[in-house]
Amino acid sequence: MTPPATTANPSDHPWRSIVITLFPELFPGPLAASVVGQALENGTWTLDTVAIRDHGLGRHRAVDDTPAGGGAGMVMRADVLGAAIDDARALYPANSSDLPLLIMSPRGEPLTQKMVEDLSKGPGAILLAGRFEGIDERIIKGRNAKEVSIGDYVLSGGELAAYVLIDACVRLRPGVLGATESLAHESFEDGLLEYPQYTRPRTWEGHDIPDILLSGDHAKIAKWRDDKARELTKHRRPDLLTDKSTTK
Ligand code: ADE
Repeated sequence: MTPPATTANPSDHPWRSIVITLFPELFPGPLAASVVGQALENGTWTLDTVAIRDHGLGRHRAVDDTPAGGGAGMVMRADVLGAAIDDARALYPANSSDLPLLIMSPRGEPLTQKMVEDLSKGPGAILLAGRFEGIDERIIKGRNAKEVSIGDYVLSGGELAAYVLIDACVRLRPGVLGATESLAHESFEDGLLEYPQYTRPRTWEGHDIPDILLSGDHAKIAKWRDDKARELTKHRRPDLLTDKSTTK
């Protein structure tokens, strides 16, 4: 295997991820597969987990309690989470204060490719995967955290969201994807969804590859792809076109 460009920008350090979770056994899980898994093996990025349960209180190692003011469900305790976060920061004392603390939550700021790009250029991230009804609000200011959502739906916990965020960041690190070409025209790269792609056979179940793609006229092909990307984006994700970056 070709060694990664480990000394290339944006950093001399591996991209650090630390996941704070009740289920450390879920990691690396799917992050051990494919190019992201290879990059984990060769040290392009690192993954540590902090088990929230290790900071639980009492004989039962309690991590949650009933909500102040009443109501259903349980809330994760600020003292327990605070100790788990401090434990995570202690893992890499030299640069741990630079790692942003992100709390995975459906009420967080929506995760976008722009946010992923910014995070991937940084030193890494500490991700807190919550469970139960929520976490004590005081932890957010108390530990300078940002809440991040991966979409407008509710997962049973933040671990799946942590997989998503880590995968999206790591694949942008230098050397992780084989050909730089595969980053060149992907969805969101220029604020548009990706144009349709085709490969052999030329005719499949009566459907042909559009003639223009076989014409060899690179300027026409580029124009066709741009038109298709805009058409698709307008139809499926008109919200993306209101962003000034796409109104070329
Ligand atoms: N935890 C539960 N639902 C979530 C979501 N949509 N995004 C991030 N974390 C979550």
